[in-house]
Amino acid sequence: MQEKRQGKWLQVFSINPGRVSEMNSNPMIGESNVASDGRALQSDESWTFKRRAFLRMLGYGASAVALGPLMAASRSAIGQSAAGNLRAELVHDADFWTSVQKMFVLNTDRTFMNIGTAGSMPEAVLSLFAEENFAKARDSLNGYGDRADLRALVAPGFGVDSDELAFSYNTSSGMCHSILGIKWKPGDVIVTTNHEHFGGDVPLAIAADRYGVEVSRVALPVGNNQTAATYVSLFDERIRQLKRQGKRVRAMMWSSPTYKTGTMLPIADLMEVVKAHELISIVDGAHLPGMMAYDYGALGCDFMSGAGHKWQCGPGSTGILIMRNKIRASNPLPLPEWYPVHGTAYNNTPRTTNGTATWDVAASVTNCGSTHVPMYKALVKACELWDSIGRKKIETYDLALSAYLKERIVELWGVDALYSPKDDPKLVSALTSFNPFQNPADVMNREKSNQFVSLMLSDYSPGFAIRNAGFDVIGAPAQHYGVRVSTHLWADADDVDRLVDAMWQLSKKMA
Ligand SMILES: Cc1ncc(COP(=O)(O)O)c(C=O)c1O
Repeated sequence: MQEKRQGKWLQVFSINPGRVSEMNSNPMIGESNVASDGRALQSDESWTFKRRAFLRMLGYGASAVALGPLMAASRSAIGQSAAGNLRAELVHDADFWTSVQKMFVLNTDRTFMNIGTAGSMPEAVLSLFAEENFAKARDSLNGYGDRADLRALVAPGFGVDSDELAFSYNTSSGMCHSILGIKWKPGDVIVTTNHEHFGGDVPLAIAADRYGVEVSRVALPVGNNQTAATYVSLFDERIRQLKRQGKRVRAMMWSSPTYKTGTMLPIADLMEVVKAHELISIVDGAHLPGMMAYDYGALGCDFMSGAGHKWQCGPGSTGILIMRNKIRASNPLPLPEWYPVHGTAYNNTPRTTNGTATWDVAASVTNCGSTHVPMYKALVKACELWDSIGRKKIETYDLALSAYLKERIVELWGVDALYSPKDDPKLVSALTSFNPFQNPADVMNREKSNQFVSLMLSDYSPGFAIRNAGFDVIGAPAQHYGVRVSTHLWADADDVDRLVDAMWQLSKKMA
């Protein structure tokens, strides 16, 4: 399915404004979002019955039900394996996804399956970026301002208003804005997990040292044996326990999904715990923009810090920070007392107590001296592409590919090899983490796990770019270094098959 596309893209580096606008005339990358055969990219409305059925199978739509029982039912009804059913669904719309794959300029010598670390700008985004960079240099443009116009273009895709969507530099910067902007008091407790990224852990540590905040971590179980209720009760019980000890619990902070196992800690369910205990809610959503089609107005979390450069495929140094800035039915709690920590726009008007914002809180994050506006414009272009394809459609594709990968892993290694849940639709993401070793204990050997990842890149053609991550597993004598695979728009069922075959071969070789 992949095609050599680099030759064409190289043209854009001849710094010539005429050339750049020619690049924009490519029908694949133009505003109309029309595929090379002239066919308009499909909208959600034009989905086939089969695809809608597939959506339901993943737990979406009016009759959302658990994935497990439905998959079991469909398996027995047509006598196929779960993986077989998923593959058939993925292949069903192959033409459409091939047209989407052609938006990217990825090196075809590799199969890029580490989007959780870095995405890739589509050609249309690169062209716009180049054009805007050229204009900035040509006209000596400055970068002052709060980008309200650009934020207004992106915000509806995330279910919020422009005063609730800030451009940050990345997830980590958004987490610093969120955590370090809150007015903490010594002894305040933040409940979080033992599987957080340092992008969230570092501002937590700073808040602990600087403001006397205490951090309480719940230990996350891993694998397919959990349901959303497992994680809800872990947080709820910890908070109750802390309260019984007389502690002042003020906030919950968690990753959805965790970068270590790809477990989608269920935001909507955890928000019920947040509301029951009247807490501030901070979500490290590094992987959410561009992967999941969440409506943050409906979720009601106070902060969600996501990356613009991962699944959303915007430029590096871009992030999307959602900040609750008015009272909606989804979260009637008062807005937290929060102050900008990094910026050149400050408004000390008290925050609203009703449904109308008193000031643009997201402007205070975005507006910080002279910034690189082309970068934000390129991020907006990426978001517009995602909106035109359909965020829900992208989410379904990514989750379906990941579900297929998980089923293939189960077929060969067994379900116990999975660190990512697969059967509760509330817990799934497009990150798949598992133990690839024939001797399961080898996953605690960091060197061996690193070697597995390097050999997948060097010894196969095209090489597979994947990664590993170390994490605590309850009851294990040492950290597990699970292997993590990201499945996104430029991969398809054939890529997953090749990946699984290669990983199986390599695991045998390394046994
Ligand atoms: C859960 C999580 N949080 C934060 C980060 C940091 O992301 P960024 O590079 O956008 O700051 C990552 C990066 O992979 C992550 O996975």
